[in-house]
Amino acid sequence: SLVSLRQVLDHAAEFSYGVPAFNVNNLEQVQAILSAAAETDSPVILQASAGARRYAGEAFIKHLIQAAVESHPELPIVMHQDHGVSPAVCRSAIELGFSSVMMDGSLREDGKTPADFDYNVAVTRQVVAFAHERGVSVEGELGCLGSLETGCGEAEDGVGATRTLCRDELLTDPQQARRFVDETGVDALAIAIGTSHGAYKFSRPPSGDVLAIDRVRQIHEAIPQTHLVLHGSSSVPQSLLDEVRRYGGDLKPTWGVPVADIQRAIRYGVRKINIDTDLRLAMTGAIRRHFAEHPEDFDPRQYLKEGIAAMRAVCIDRFEAFGAAGQA
Ligand code: G3H
Ligand code: 13P
Ligand code: NA
Ligand code: ZN
Repeated sequence: SLVSLRQVLDHAAEFSYGVPAFNVNNLEQVQAILSAAAETDSPVILQASAGARRYAGEAFIKHLIQAAVESHPELPIVMHQDHGVSPAVCRSAIELGFSSVMMDGSLREDGKTPADFDYNVAVTRQVVAFAHERGVSVEGELGCLGSLETGCGEAEDGVGATRTLCRDELLTDPQQARRFVDETGVDALAIAIGTSHGAYKFSRPPSGDVLAIDRVRQIHEAIPQTHLVLHGSSSVPQSLLDEVRRYGGDLKPTWGVPVADIQRAIRYGVRKINIDTDLRLAMTGAIRRHFAEHPEDFDPRQYLKEGIAAMRAVCIDRFEAFGAAGQA
């Protein structure tokens, strides 16, 4: 059934596990995730970005997720809006039927320019007031996502250039997190501890401390009632990259966040783990392979079925690795 993010993450906190939040844009992704969740008896967070809503259309996104709920009444399913850039976007998602929204006030409405703390608090508390009246959960974000390896944040400086950030700017401050939670009342908080969006996170195999795990623990201690969220958590498995390359894809060398590091972050209080890139890679590799091995096929169901199977395998891996399996 459709549930709020708060309900799913309260349970995850009580039983010390993490829940992967997968991005969805189309039917095949929804089916892959639900099939994996049903197989492993896992709670589900389906999240749609503004790009997803533009790609599929509002009504299709809404009804795809509602179809998932209808097909799997036995599973708790969160319908979450990823990276809302304004209170207006969050309100429209809530009116569309989302049970959870992210107000990303760490950036201005252009989704690029870093916003100051007061702006972030103002827009986020506005969303919390509107959402909580309707039983909808809110995720906020404090900090600037970016790789500790390169010092590159995703935030642009306002004139379009990405500047190199110092380590401190790339990590969420625990005391500021406490003030943010006190002033907004968010249910969940996305934190910056060294992850970044997309396939190109690290330029060499990560060893040791790619994430500021200590920082997770400090933030968790400062705001124990607020569920911590990790964006940019794809592991970018070399096997998925190799599959894409083997069948003609052109991907530069890259490494993601090792599953073992995410497991450590879960031990220190992370409850929601955002994954999009890994499913994109899995689907693309499987379809490329199908085209290479069956050049005579032209029924989309033949190759999309392979895409679903490959995404499903990734989802099963993450449900199990994060401890969500068996918790639905
Ligand atoms: O955080 C970004 C997610 O991976 C969604 O990506 O905006 O291209 O849909 P998107
Ligand atoms: P990845 O690009 O690492 O999959 O992160 C997705 C994400 O954070 C969506 O909000
Ligand atoms: Na941010
Ligand atoms: Zn994100």
